[in-house]
Amino acid sequence: MSTTCTVAFFGTGLMGFPMAKRLLASGFPVTAWNRSREKALPLKALGAEVVTTPAQALEQADVAVLMLAHADAIRKTLLGAEAAPLLAKKSVVQMGTIGPEESRDLAADITSLGGRYLEAPVLGSVPQAEAGKLEVMAGGDKALFDELFPVLRCFGRHPRWIGPVGTAATLKLALNHLIAAQAAAFATSLALVQKGQVPLEVFLEILRGSAFYAPTFERKLPVMLNPVHAKVNFPAKHMLKDVRLIRAAAEASAVNTTLVAALEVLYAATEKAGLGDADYAAVARLIVGD
Ligand SMILES: NC(=O)c1ccc[n+]([C@@H]2O[C@H](COP(=O)([O-])OP(=O)(O)OC[C@H]3O[C@@H](n4cnc5c(N)ncnc54)[C@H](OP(=O)(O)O)[C@@H]3O)[C@@H](O)[C@H]2O)c1
Repeated sequence: MSTTCTVAFFGTGLMGFPMAKRLLASGFPVTAWNRSREKALPLKALGAEVVTTPAQALEQADVAVLMLAHADAIRKTLLGAEAAPLLAKKSVVQMGTIGPEESRDLAADITSLGGRYLEAPVLGSVPQAEAGKLEVMAGGDKALFDELFPVLRCFGRHPRWIGPVGTAATLKLALNHLIAAQAAAFATSLALVQKGQVPLEVFLEILRGSAFYAPTFERKLPVMLNPVHAKVNFPAKHMLKDVRLIRAAAEASAVNTTLVAALEVLYAATEKAGLGDADYAAVARLIVGD
């Protein structure tokens, strides 16, 4: 695949915007579409064409890259009456976090329309998207992965092929489970320390020297202490969506869901408290309880 192939980019949100920029910086012609058009417009100055319908984006493209919120948004965007017939002979790269079943259903629908489908969810957040350092995990036909490698390579240094459709989606959920659980566990320890009048620095110093220290603890600490005004990299509403997907995938594989069900309660309460658009570390506000 050469950089003369046009990429239709769908979803220029927190992650999609810097990813579309990476494609442009690598020399790919990009046609961008976003439901709220104003979020895509700044890409014009960087050379992208910004269109008003998904069908217009597909018409001009060989490859469609999607970084949309969830499976419902993907289906509405790609499988509507105008866009769906245009999927014939197109390669669709789905990069948002969706469930393995949802991904397999999309693959079946796109294939039945004559298109090709690769799932390629990512680990990493906005800073990694800006730097082209996402961990890109692909599921689907290996030959399609190889063909699309130059596109995937714009987003991460070492895109990996994991296996058939569904395997990369599952891997992404397994990794996000750790993020969801770690944030909730750290927030609970932090709340104990704060309420038990233990000096925060002493807690952090002992933690730093321990085997269970994780760099994310200190990165998320300022957000946990002040979730409302912190920069948002990964909104709590998407973490709630992911936790629900993790629970569904666990249930489908008869994996015990006790922990993930508790996480769902916490992240649902975070959204209910009006913190759905705050960073997911805002879960700390619910845990500390005041
Ligand atoms: N942020 C992260 O750190 C991160 C990391 C890895 C993976 N992800 C995953 O990547 C995906 C995008 O995340 P993000 O953080 O970029 O979220 P975001 O900023 O909320 O962007 C979501 C995108 O989906 C679009 N969208 C939502 N509902 C839609 C609908 N019904 N029809 C059409 N478009 C719709 C939004 O359009 P509007 O602008 O019009 O709302 C926006 O372009 C999610 O699946 C997320 O879980 C996020």
